[in-house]
Amino acid sequence: CGIVGYIGHNQAFPYLLDGLKKLEYRGYDSAGIALHKNGAIQVVKKTGKVAVLEEEFRSQNTESTLGIGHTRWATHGVPCDANAHPHSSKSGNLVLVHNGIIENYASLKEELIQKGYSFNSETDSEVLLNFIEDIHINNNCSLEEAIRIALKRVTGAYVILLLSKDYPDTLFAARKGSPLVIGIGNGEHFLGSDASPMLEFTKEVVYINDYELAIINPDQLILKNLGNETLTPYVQKLDMELAAIEKGGYEHFMIKEIHEQPQAIFDSLRGRLDPESLNITLSGLDKIKDKLINARRVIIVACGTSWHAGLLAEYWIEELCRLNVEVEYASEFRYRNPIITSDDVIIAISQSGETADTLVALENAKAQGATIFGIVNVVGSSIARISDAGIYTHAGPEIGVASTKAFSAQLTVLLLFAIKLAEFKNSTSEEIRKQLTKELSTVPEKVKYILDSTIENIKVIAKKYQGATDFLFLGRGYNFPIALEGALKLKEISYIHAEGYPAAEMKHGPIALVDETLPVVFVATKDRVHEKIVSNMQEIKARSGKLISVVTEDDQLAISLSDEHIKIPASHEMIAPILAVIPLQILSYYVGIERQIDVDRPRNLAKSVTVE
Ligand code: G6P
Repeated sequence: CGIVGYIGHNQAFPYLLDGLKKLEYRGYDSAGIALHKNGAIQVVKKTGKVAVLEEEFRSQNTESTLGIGHTRWATHGVPCDANAHPHSSKSGNLVLVHNGIIENYASLKEELIQKGYSFNSETDSEVLLNFIEDIHINNNCSLEEAIRIALKRVTGAYVILLLSKDYPDTLFAARKGSPLVIGIGNGEHFLGSDASPMLEFTKEVVYINDYELAIINPDQLILKNLGNETLTPYVQKLDMELAAIEKGGYEHFMIKEIHEQPQAIFDSLRGRLDPESLNITLSGLDKIKDKLINARRVIIVACGTSWHAGLLAEYWIEELCRLNVEVEYASEFRYRNPIITSDDVIIAISQSGETADTLVALENAKAQGATIFGIVNVVGSSIARISDAGIYTHAGPEIGVASTKAFSAQLTVLLLFAIKLAEFKNSTSEEIRKQLTKELSTVPEKVKYILDSTIENIKVIAKKYQGATDFLFLGRGYNFPIALEGALKLKEISYIHAEGYPAAEMKHGPIALVDETLPVVFVATKDRVHEKIVSNMQEIKARSGKLISVVTEDDQLAISLSDEHIKIPASHEMIAPILAVIPLQILSYYVGIERQIDVDRPRNLAKSVTVE
């Protein structure tokens, strides 16, 4: 979910509405805004996207200098007007927006029902709100104190913003586990789940930490912990530009971000890979050098596309560093009671740095003594902050729900990491390391070449196969994670069922699906297992499947076997997957467009999943 808030001397509504649009990537099942006006609080909320809410507000007076807003990704209760935020308390005095999950809501709800409370929604958020109100009334304490007492009782994750009829000049905000940024203006404060809504108004921001409560007036930000001790807010300066989060002439963020990949990769290499000397400098890695050299194993923890980057990193690190690597889905890892020691290094991969499962998996591993290394895109995010060391992927803000440039930036940074660690461990010859480094420095221009040379061809392929009900994506070795990523991209934004599989393992199941209606995408660049994958292509062809392959430019054999082919430049087998994913992203984008899907905001998905 996304949350926004405003308090100051200007109109709150335009900031709140525009902010919700910028945060819609976090969820868009429903949206709502509450405005404090003349001792009353006006709440308007609707199922659907922020545009529906905007329409609803057209006929309303929006004058107010204090308000909060929310765009929802449903967890408790279906998307409907009643479950949309903001929620009002029983007395109508308090209004709240909440992002996160209150895990013990059922027992709190039971307690409140005993006391005569009833509820308008199925949400845990409404329970939390009334819990606060109940403490406020029955314990005869200030609202601030009531919030603190309530938050000490709840388990789970939250960011809450709270308004009270009795406080026309105050906005209350608190966080645990979900992100909250407060922008400092001149006599005004801007709140958001991330900094994008406030960028055009201020560059000075405070990232609120877990278990902190902010009491915000137009001119003052008071920060306290739940023990009522006053804290000094740490004000940071943002260097993000607004243009970076706008569409810049492209029809969708996704295609803009696909085109930004040469830059994202270049920025991720900049200052780290010296193209002259071919030296690699990674200060984050230096920081835990000894730990890594002596590590018993590396455990990579991530979700979604970031997990696919982790899977490829496993192949790279094992090959170059001769180090044991395990790749874990964060959601499984955190509940599995894994054996972790202080000799383990955990690599967390996350675009947003806020994915709840990844974050908690890291907290658990940290508590067991492991060292945490973060590969994160969003600076200052929760995962960045709990990491002992790390490397930022400099992909810039990624807005499209389906991750593209963040993925190629992750791969870039992970390969840099593997080459550098191999240098420290002396586990790969200098010659191979230099060759890889040299080729890595040419990736931005090769990606640019792929973008320039393949799109028209891919558009034709997309049109031809957009009616298929299923797709199979196959790859081996370094290209296997790319096959998984290709399938994920297609499902996400075309709603076509797609499966990624190791090309040889296909014989043990998916081959039963093959007939003349099934498009099979082969990621078949030239590498040590090329002959093997060519045999797999023959196997599909013999069963009349339609072959769409991503091939190395001069590979006549693979081209002759394929119904459709997309050529990419020749490269080292470890670099090829970074190139091979680009045509697959483009293919899913144009299939999504052909099927008239809202590719930046596909149904049911959220950019940043801050609930488990
Ligand atoms: C969501 C997004 C995916 C992303 C995954 C992990 O599912 O839709 O694109 O790969 O979360 O997110 P993270 O921010 O941790 O990389």
